[in-house]
Amino acid sequence: MPETLRLSADPDGIARAAALLRAGGLVAFPTETVYGLGGDAADDRAVARIFEAKGRPRFNPLIAHVADLAMAERLAVFDDWARAVAAAFWPGPLTLVLPLRADAGLSPLVTAELPTVAIRLPAHPVAQALLRAFGGPLAAPSANPSGKVSPTRAEHVVEGLSGRIEAVVDGGACAVGVESTILGLDGAPALLRPGGVPVEALEALLGAIATGGDAKKPNAPGQLASHYAPGAAVRLNAVAVHPGEVRLGFGPGAADLNLSPAGDLVQAAANLFHMLRQADALAGPGGTIAVAPVPEAGLGRAINDRLRRAAAPRG
Ligand code: TXA
Ligand code: MG
Repeated sequence: MPETLRLSADPDGIARAAALLRAGGLVAFPTETVYGLGGDAADDRAVARIFEAKGRPRFNPLIAHVADLAMAERLAVFDDWARAVAAAFWPGPLTLVLPLRADAGLSPLVTAELPTVAIRLPAHPVAQALLRAFGGPLAAPSANPSGKVSPTRAEHVVEGLSGRIEAVVDGGACAVGVESTILGLDGAPALLRPGGVPVEALEALLGAIATGGDAKKPNAPGQLASHYAPGAAVRLNAVAVHPGEVRLGFGPGAADLNLSPAGDLVQAAANLFHMLRQADALAGPGGTIAVAPVPEAGLGRAINDRLRRAAAPRG
């Protein structure tokens, strides 16, 4: 395959990206959470190529990204609760898992042949423009090799997938910085992955939400124990630093890199994946990243979830 094109996030770049997608190509694009690796969700070959480019196991289903609620309702069955959640949180960093419609027209690879489909309506203007220009749902996992740190800048995508995908639309840094929250609504509401919408905000609408999923039988690969793994080892809740470690701080105090000197979780989420990459480069092969404690509330839940998986034993 020729070199991966870097397209600008202007009308010309969007039009070229949409044309590549219509031809079955793979195009990474910015969303407010992380960069997604997009392909035509109705095209078996394009979707198969997404799995191949990422080295992703086929049993891990993908999120279908849509331009609007009408496109979402052609893919899944929405009840009143689903409509209320969509009205409150879309567009935004929330993915809903809903019963798949028989006439959805998606490649079965998108859903890994499950009876449900994960759908997200992103808020990022470039993602929205691309979805409108393409005119149908785009399957889009995070645009990184499977198991590695997610991309929040176009250069992260190029580092991981250059030569394996047709193009990346460069929309700068992602504002939220952690992936969408995944809410199962095919039965009682279940939190399948903490993410950019704090679970507290969902509970204000839906009442208490159970945590779903099982690390050994993942229905969300974010639930595989080792994920988001940098090259270096990761030591969590590090209050003291050992000699030679790279210190990734949160809040005041000495650190090589600081997720948020002011202790702001929104800023910390936006910095998380970029700073994990920087810390990895500083630590070098065989090195260790010592991460300061991050409070387990609001976006801190998503941050700690990613950090725990980054620290988990590999393989
Ligand atoms: O913020 C995000 O969600 C980003 C951007 C690009 O939209 N996408 C993303 O995709 O994080 P990915 O593939 O890295 O994670 C998708 C998650 C996986 O954990 C997958 O197992 C879960 O969604 N998923 C997809 N379909 C599902 C289904 N039918 N039931 C349960 N989980 C599902
Ligand atoms: Mg991912």
